[in-house]
Amino acid sequence: MRKFHWISAISILSAAIIIGSCKTKFDTTESNFTATRSEIALEHGRVLVYSICGGCHYDPTVNKFIGTRIHEVPGIVGTVYSANLTNSKSNGVPPRYSDAELRYLLKTGVARDGRFIPYMLRPNMADEDMNDIIVYLRSDDPAVAAADTTIGITHFNLIGKMAMNIMAKPLPYKTGINRPTESDPIASGRYLVDNIGCFHCHSKSVTKLNYLYPEQSKGYMAGGMKFKTRQGMEIYASNLTPDKQTGIGDYTQSQFRKAVKDGEAPHRNLHPPMPKFKRLSDRDVDAMYAYLQTIPASFHKVHGH
Ligand code: HEC
Ligand code: HEC
Repeated sequence: MRKFHWISAISILSAAIIIGSCKTKFDTTESNFTATRSEIALEHGRVLVYSICGGCHYDPTVNKFIGTRIHEVPGIVGTVYSANLTNSKSNGVPPRYSDAELRYLLKTGVARDGRFIPYMLRPNMADEDMNDIIVYLRSDDPAVAAADTTIGITHFNLIGKMAMNIMAKPLPYKTGINRPTESDPIASGRYLVDNIGCFHCHSKSVTKLNYLYPEQSKGYMAGGMKFKTRQGMEIYASNLTPDKQTGIGDYTQSQFRKAVKDGEAPHRNLHPPMPKFKRLSDRDVDAMYAYLQTIPASFHKVHGH
């Protein structure tokens, strides 16, 4: 009994020290930036927001970006809800942010109130794409038009708070980045795998991702990350390296399109959390295919595949 007390006292103390010693509030930006609206920016921004933010912020039952519960976060750290991205003055987040603050959050992970939010990190995103995302979020498109729905409030327990504090490492604020030209499919594909965030799920572990240099992430694109569906089923992300036995080395370009856009792999239907990237152009999907053929083939048999 005595021993048990000591152990719990020590763990609570070390937890407190870890929490206390990590910085938990960071400065947001004071830079000026105003997104430039145009019809093309709006259309392109819609594709990006559906493809990049959709998985975590879109509720397909109401067709709006009102936020959802993030089931992929293990219950051991608490419960996590994303945010309402509509233009609701009461519950939507974008109306409370300036364009510069939004861009700063998406690039560095630092929110307007100084919290570090580790889910959206896109340090390498081109200025143009960042602009278009903001233009779309501020538009009157029905999916982002004001909806006052509240979906739930994130709650971290002690373990969750510790994990968050350890992970709280804002990324450098890099701007002045151009999108690769479309005439270079391999560079475009690499950019898309990075910025749509395919590598976030298709590499070894969320804690071993390298956001600045994605290709240096542990087990880059070789799959194996474990997810749980809402129904509690375990799903493992696929190996997308060109290995012929365990990866997608035998995929044709059109099979790849079907898998990425419609969730239909050659021999099976794909489960969530693999999104259906319906809005991506064939050109973008083909570029990712071309790029993925060039990365090192990794022999890695994924559980259940
Ligand atoms: C992997 C899941 C995920 C993706 C992808 C994602 N988000 Fe989030 N986002 C979250 C979660 C979870 C929160 C809430 C975090 C919290 O409050 O603890 C959040 C919060 C936010 C917030 C609120 C910040 C605040 O001050 O409370 C904004 C704005 C936001 N996200 C924008 C975006 C945009 C724009 C995209 C797409 C470019 C995106 N997110 C993609 C998970 C995600
Ligand atoms: C939120 C996590 C997540 C994201 C983001 C994601 N995937 Fe997946 N993907 C998965 C999971 C999980 C599976 C396995 C699904 C299954 O086995 O039912 C999968 C399967 C696949 C497959 C099927 C391969 C096979 O035959 O086993 C392809 C192709 C694929 N993803 C491509 C992509 C591309 C390209 C992107 C980015 C544009 C992407 N994925 C983004 C989680 C994700």
